[in-house]
Amino acid sequence: MCKADIMIDGKKLCEVPVIVDNMGGKSLDITNFRKETGYITYDPGFGNTGSCRSSITYLDGEKGLLQYRGYPIEDLVENCDFVEVAYLLVHGYLPTVKERKKYADLLNENSLIHPQMRNFFRNYPDNAHPMSILAAMVVSLQPFYPEIDLAEDPEKQMDLNVTRLLSKMRTIAAFTYRKIAGMEFVNPNSKYSYCENFLNMMFSSPVKEYVPNPIHIKALNKLLILHADHEQNCSTTAVRLIGSSEANLYAAVSAGICALWGPKHGGANQAVIEMLEQILESGESLTKIVERAKDKDDPFKLMGFGHRVYKTYDPRAKIARKMCDEVLADLGTSDPLLELAEQLEDIALHDPYFVERNLYPNVDFYTGIIFRAMGIPTNMYTVMFALGRLPGWIAHYLEWNHDPYEKIGRPRQLYTGPQTKKILPIEERT
Ligand code: CMC
Repeated sequence: MCKADIMIDGKKLCEVPVIVDNMGGKSLDITNFRKETGYITYDPGFGNTGSCRSSITYLDGEKGLLQYRGYPIEDLVENCDFVEVAYLLVHGYLPTVKERKKYADLLNENSLIHPQMRNFFRNYPDNAHPMSILAAMVVSLQPFYPEIDLAEDPEKQMDLNVTRLLSKMRTIAAFTYRKIAGMEFVNPNSKYSYCENFLNMMFSSPVKEYVPNPIHIKALNKLLILHADHEQNCSTTAVRLIGSSEANLYAAVSAGICALWGPKHGGANQAVIEMLEQILESGESLTKIVERAKDKDDPFKLMGFGHRVYKTYDPRAKIARKMCDEVLADLGTSDPLLELAEQLEDIALHDPYFVERNLYPNVDFYTGIIFRAMGIPTNMYTVMFALGRLPGWIAHYLEWNHDPYEKIGRPRQLYTGPQTKKILPIEERT
């Protein structure tokens, strides 16, 4: 095994093993570094820390590559539907016709939520953000649907645990929208496919029966696939970390939803559309917007731009950008926000600030325009991201829990507080 010497002031401190992963990625194994040397490593934001071994998703940020279980994202979006990709992420392989049918049946059998849970929605204020309702409802599934013990028939039981969450979270997401819109819930209907069912629960009305729109269904499948996994991002790391304490799957996924909500992560899709709408309304020049994004004294950032890992065009953004044109053309409509987004991208990509820092559009820059074209309201976009990311979170939760190398997550810190102090009697304190 190859080893690396760690030197301090020209003196060898220790040797650490070098690990090379399946794609040639190199890392230093510092598992015993503190034990052997007394040193810890410091890496705020974990930008250079491999926190686990994982066989789910491969991402090369320099080349702009993304693969789930070895399949390029471009191929999955073109050739599979979301349920097949969910199966792939969780099981590690694409389903056969029989397996796909069984999964679809399980999704249908497990789509309803307990009547008592339906009451929970009523008590939320109408202006609640859908992500707060989603997170609370997902963790609330646990007492109603405790995870099934895998001991008897691991494969069968796992499929049940997984499809139950995949199916019920879709129902919760649609109910959340209807609650906020002040509309009666529409139950899932087993005659529909996964995405059709979601759209039916969202958009059915008592006076007008839902008619599946193939353009919406195709777009939704593609968008959910684009979001289905992204290796060790903020929310997935949250899921793995919560799971590492052996908390239940619902608790871990609920934590993932909370982590996703922030505008630096999944909440960026809502923030992008709000930014574009605000530009359109104010008529502010795009050059001025870009100048503001560069100004360190202005908290404003170009939402939907930049990424911790991608130092080139995000492959998901490339697909989403193309989809905007296709979906709008198929629907025979246009959107002034798309034109604005394209102009903004063009200005930013020619600006030295963005070029030097390798800041490109990320997945959230164009997806909101497609959700908008489908009639999904802006505050639901991050819920849509969560729905797509769910199979990835589940796959990572299961992977962590079945990996003998994994331990409870517990990083170290650099302490910056006071040194040891004595407590003064209260009358002597100033
Ligand atoms: N607009 C203006 N400047 C930016 C932007 C932006 N969107 N993103 C990064 N920068 C600058 C940043 O100020 C820093 O400049 P300097 O080197 O002069 O200090 C430099 O680029 C490096 O950025 P960073 O903040 O150190 O990078 P990070 O890896 O810590 O943050 C990020 C990544 C995505 C949080 C950040 O780019 C950002 O806030 N983007 C806007 C929010 C957004 O679109 N988030 C969605 C991410 S993709 C969806 C997902 O998977 O979560």
